[in-house]
Amino acid sequence: MKLNHRPILLLLLGLTVTSGAATSPCTFTEDWTRCVCDIMGLHNPQSLICMDALELELRDSRLEFSEMAAALDLSYLQSMRINKLILNNVTISFSFIMRLIPFLPHELKEIDIISSALEVGRPVQLPELREASQLTALLLEDVAVDPSLLQPSFQPLHRWLFGSLASLGLVRSGLAEIDCDWAQRVENLTDLDLSENPVSYTGLQNISHCSSLSFKSLKSLHLSGSNLTSLQPLCTPLSLTPALARLDVSRNNFSIIHFPRCLQVKPLRTLNLSHSGITEVHSLLSASLEELDLSYNSLEVFSSPLQTLKKLYLSYNRLIRLPSLDNLPRLKQLKVDSNLLSLLINGTSVNTSKLEQLDVLHAGRNPYRCDCALSETINFLDSTDSVSVEDYPEEFLCASPEAQQGTQIMNLSLESCEKPKPTSETQHHHGRTSSPTAQQGTEIMNSSLGPSVKPTGGTRHHHGSPLCLTLFVGLLSGLICFC
Ligand SMILES: *[C@@H]1O[C@H](CO)[C@@H](O)[C@H](O)[C@H]1NC(C)=O
Ligand SMILES: *[C@@H]1O[C@H](CO)[C@@H](O)[C@H](O)[C@H]1NC(C)=O
Ligand SMILES: *[C@@H]1O[C@H](CO)[C@@H](O)[C@H](O)[C@H]1NC(C)=O
Ligand SMILES: *[C@@H]1O[C@H](CO)[C@@H](O)[C@H](O)[C@H]1NC(C)=O
Ligand SMILES: *[C@@H]1O[C@H](CO)[C@@H](O)[C@H](O)[C@H]1NC(C)=O
Ligand SMILES: *[C@@H]1O[C@H](CO)[C@@H](O)[C@H](O)[C@H]1NC(C)=O
Ligand SMILES: *[C@@H]1O[C@H](CO)[C@@H](O)[C@H](O)[C@H]1NC(C)=O
Ligand SMILES: *[C@@H]1O[C@H](CO)[C@@H](O)[C@H](O)[C@H]1NC(C)=O
Repeated sequence: MKLNHRPILLLLLGLTVTSGAATSPCTFTEDWTRCVCDIMGLHNPQSLICMDALELELRDSRLEFSEMAAALDLSYLQSMRINKLILNNVTISFSFIMRLIPFLPHELKEIDIISSALEVGRPVQLPELREASQLTALLLEDVAVDPSLLQPSFQPLHRWLFGSLASLGLVRSGLAEIDCDWAQRVENLTDLDLSENPVSYTGLQNISHCSSLSFKSLKSLHLSGSNLTSLQPLCTPLSLTPALARLDVSRNNFSIIHFPRCLQVKPLRTLNLSHSGITEVHSLLSASLEELDLSYNSLEVFSSPLQTLKKLYLSYNRLIRLPSLDNLPRLKQLKVDSNLLSLLINGTSVNTSKLEQLDVLHAGRNPYRCDCALSETINFLDSTDSVSVEDYPEEFLCASPEAQQGTQIMNLSLESCEKPKPTSETQHHHGRTSSPTAQQGTEIMNSSLGPSVKPTGGTRHHHGSPLCLTLFVGLLSGLICFC
């Protein structure tokens, strides 16, 4: 590996670096793309491995620029190969940023500033920034920004910074209002994340008064954790985003959702309403929605006529029965784990062939009731090989009756239950059930009452009648009965 010591040494001469931490070398992350350095770590020649990194993370330090250093030529910095710079837990002075800007590597496309502070300090002369930066993505997360940085006097910096930006995140950064000047600066973004800021409704609505403002290219908007209680107030600002395809309004406080007409007619493809205390959803209509996340809410029922839906996430709700799939012809992924389902398939009210249309199903962590009514559900889970039930069998446990609590439902042998009447879907047998020895529930082996478990199935249980353990050993053997 060829090392070039000069850039780093000169960089260090130019910087006043203070850090409380003991000297430690830079370390690479496991995939060898990112080099993580305590600033003091750069003193160590070993740290020069960073010259080959694609991402450089500087952390736990104070970055300032000394007066003496101001005259130094930093042009060699441009020979570094990094395309992403991460500043984590640092205090950065504005003078440091301004000194550095002209010399950032051409390959640098992304800057993340996390858990840090941007200080202005004493007044500084803005350098001339003729061209816009090459940055395409900027993220400020949990960053205290000196408000004066947003003043008009910093416009040359804004022009430089936002010039070619496609993706901007200002997360948990105390953003309270958005003025026209600033909004105009970011009009060409495709991706905007303003999550976890105390932006008010009026603040959002005001930007629609800015003259000739339009976020024509905006595809993705995140307003997670914004204390929204209704979607209606978003109509005004969203009238400026004709191309919006992805809306994240998770972690708000909606309780009852009335899906406003302005959103029904948008070309939305993904909608995230998770973690928002939702108990009811009304008028959820769209001709384009493909992915809907309603997990971590309090829904007791859900039915939807969203014909275009491909992915539906309803984990961590209070559903007592599976949502009807009759109106969801394109659904491929369904997550209903951690609800209150006692069974999946209930006679004809849930059609097995509808479930068979899915590619992925999550339905574990539900309080399954392990009686004869569950046998159709078990049949389906055991026999399907077109649907990938990713949490089966580990997360599918009996909640009742008490004697079966904690038993994996796969290990139940419901041999005393009546053979289910042949239905159209029993013709779909494939995989394990096509083996004649494994047609659980379709052969009546004996007449003992109550379901049994195989010994490996976790909880052993004892009851009054002679203990009858039925060993069910999958493909290899049939059913062996010890009485
Ligand atoms: C942040 O950096 C300071 C030193 O500047 C250090 O003492 C502190 O532990 C760091 N905090 C975290 C969360 O790493
Ligand atoms: C946005 O893009 C348009 C057309 O490409 C361009 O004329 C305009 O200057 C851009 N706005 C900003 C703030 O860069
Ligand atoms: C949301 O409201 C809660 C309670 O009123 C408050 O503690 C929190 O700071 C607010 N969050 C934001 C981002 O405004
Ligand atoms: C919204 O605009 C009105 C006037 O158009 C102004 O009085 C008000 O302060 C603005 N509110 C916010 C939060 O920007
Ligand atoms: C959610 O909003 C309701 C009123 O609409 C309020 O009573 C409740 O405290 C809010 N919850 C949070 C977590 O902000
Ligand atoms: C929805 O938002 C939550 C929390 O903000 C996040 O964890 C989840 O991954 C998002 N869902 C999708 C489908 O992106
Ligand atoms: C099964 O369906 C019947 C009739 O549709 C209903 O009465 C019963 O409550 C359902 N059981 C469950 C567990 O959903
Ligand atoms: C189940 O769905 C299939 C295909 O949509 C249909 O042919 C069949 O009649 C349905 N069966 C019941 C019992 O609803």
